[in-house]
Formats: sequence, C-alpha cells, structure tokens
Amino acid sequence: MKHLLSTADLSKDEAVLLLDTAAQMAATQSREIKKLPTLRGRTVVNLFFEDSTRTRISFEAAAKRLSADVINFSAKGSSVSKGESLKDTALTLHAMGADAVVVRHWASGAPYQLAHAGWLDAAVLNAGDGTHMHPTQALLDAFTIRRHLVGLRGGAGEGVGADLAGLKVAIVGDVLHSRVARANVALLHTLGAEVTLVAPPTLVPVGVEAWPCRVSYSLDETLDAVRPDAVMMLRVQRERMSGGAGAFFPSPHEYTRYYGLDARRLARLADHTIVMHPGPMNRGLEISAEAADSDRAVIVEQVANGVAVRMAALYLLMAGDTSAEGNHP
Ligand code: CP
Repeated sequence: MKHLLSTADLSKDEAVLLLDTAAQMAATQSREIKKLPTLRGRTVVNLFFEDSTRTRISFEAAAKRLSADVINFSAKGSSVSKGESLKDTALTLHAMGADAVVVRHWASGAPYQLAHAGWLDAAVLNAGDGTHMHPTQALLDAFTIRRHLVGLRGGAGEGVGADLAGLKVAIVGDVLHSRVARANVALLHTLGAEVTLVAPPTLVPVGVEAWPCRVSYSLDETLDAVRPDAVMMLRVQRERMSGGAGAFFPSPHEYTRYYGLDARRLARLADHTIVMHPGPMNRGLEISAEAADSDRAVIVEQVANGVAVRMAALYLLMAGDTSAEGNHP
C-alpha cells in the first residue's frame, strides 16, 4: 500500500492492520510524552482545496505527534486562486521534498491524479474528494465502532485482529452527496458488518443497487426491523445541491420529520446502540440537540479517534511495512 485513496482498495487484512496500528497509536496518546520520533526528518503536506476543521487539524496533530515536519497549504490565499493548476501545485510540493501529501479536493478523483500522474514521489492520502471517498473518516468510524461494539454479536472478539462481523450499521441521510457513506459502505462490508442505507429516494445515488448494502426509504422501519448497533447520521450537504444553498427535496421540515434523529427515535434504540456523525452537524436538521448531546453519542470520540487513525495511516505509508506480517509499533 503506497497510497490511501479509497476504502474499496483495502483488503480485510490491510483494514484490520490499520485499525490495530491505530489502537497502538491511541495507547501512546494516553502517556505523558505523546510524541513519537518515528517520522523525524520527513515532511507531510496538508493540501486542502476545500474547507475542513476535523480532518485538517487531526492530520496535522497526527503528523506532529509522529515528529514529522508539517506544511499546511490551503487553496484560499495561495496561487491556486491565480489559476495555478493541480500539476504545478504538485510540482511545487515535490520541489519542497514532500514525503506525504494529504489532499482534500472538491473534484472526485483528484487524489488519484496526484498519486498516479508521476508529478510527485510521495505517499498520497485522500482526505475527502468530492462526493467520492473519505477513507480516513471511514477508518475512524470503524475504529470507534470496534471499540464500543465488537463482541456483542459474535464478531472476532475485541482487540488485535477483530473485525466487525455480525454488527449492524444504519447510515442515514444525504447519501447522494456523501463521500463518508461511500467510504463506510465499502469498509464496513470488508470488515463483515451489515449496512443499511436510509435516505429519501431523492438523496439515493443512481447505481446504489451495486453497493454491498441494503437500502431503505424509511428510518422508522429500519430502526424497528434492523435494530442497528450503530446509527450514523449524515450531514445534509446543501452546498452540493444543484438548486443552490437551501434548495432540496424533501423540504427541511419534512426531512427532519422523516429522517431526523430526535429524542423520540433515540428512545427506541437498543440500549447498546451508539449514535455517530462525521461532523460538521446541522443541529435541528438531521440530528436534534438531544441526540447529538446524549450519552449514546460518540461524536466527540470519533474526532479524538481520528488522530490515532491518521497517525496509523501516516506511519504505515511512510515508515511501516503495510503487509499484515510486518513489524509494527
Ligand atoms: N468529517 C469531516 O471530514 O469533517 P471536516 O470537514 O471538518 O474535516
């Protein structure tokens, strides 16, 4: 594994290795001295063409905790706004000696272009491309699910090597525009979980029949019939909707009524069921404040787990042996 572009490219062994390594990284973060010398002298560039809070900050924290030098590049305020191309930007990063490039881009496929065009000799980590993929988000989601739920339904057991066999995950909301949903469906399937996508018909992508999951148009029916172990709410991405900000069908009021996670639906979940959201949240639209702030919500924990997962990804791509048999910290 030279790059991390898509969860669909990961074998089960590779996915489990990333999660096991993240668990080791998380253990180092509870110590007094958090910083590891592993990537001293290496350079990680955060190349962000789209806004981000969680992913950008946690990749920066992850790289710094591995002692790498970090260069943060935001398209806003750079020569990209003067028309500089992705190729010329990449060549500039190459000249600066980037060993890894973490890229978020509004265009689906841009990280593939960076990885395969021959402009760079660096590991490329996809930090979210268009509506396509967000692999480290899916990995931190799987890591969080594993910490809370593995063992409940006869999976491979907690700890090293555990997969998510038998667990049921409902992913709810704006699937059409969600790279988080695509990344999670692929990874959760690889790890053995059963996924149900729940969305209004207008927010389900064409071709979803080929995805390794069920599709439902009713949240209430899914909560009763599937009894999910984890409910992952998706952000309604109004900025990606063609009618402009705010124009989407169903209306916000109807959306909240039929697809929102509120106190009433929260009370119907099984005792062990966790509530997830990748952030940023539209409170009051896809998730109520009661649900977001409830004891079942692991949303803040997802953010914290993102640092350990990104440390693992950087370590394995830049310093590690990515084979399941390799030596790891
Ligand atoms: N979940 C996620 O990607 O959040 P950011 O857009 O803040 O990075």
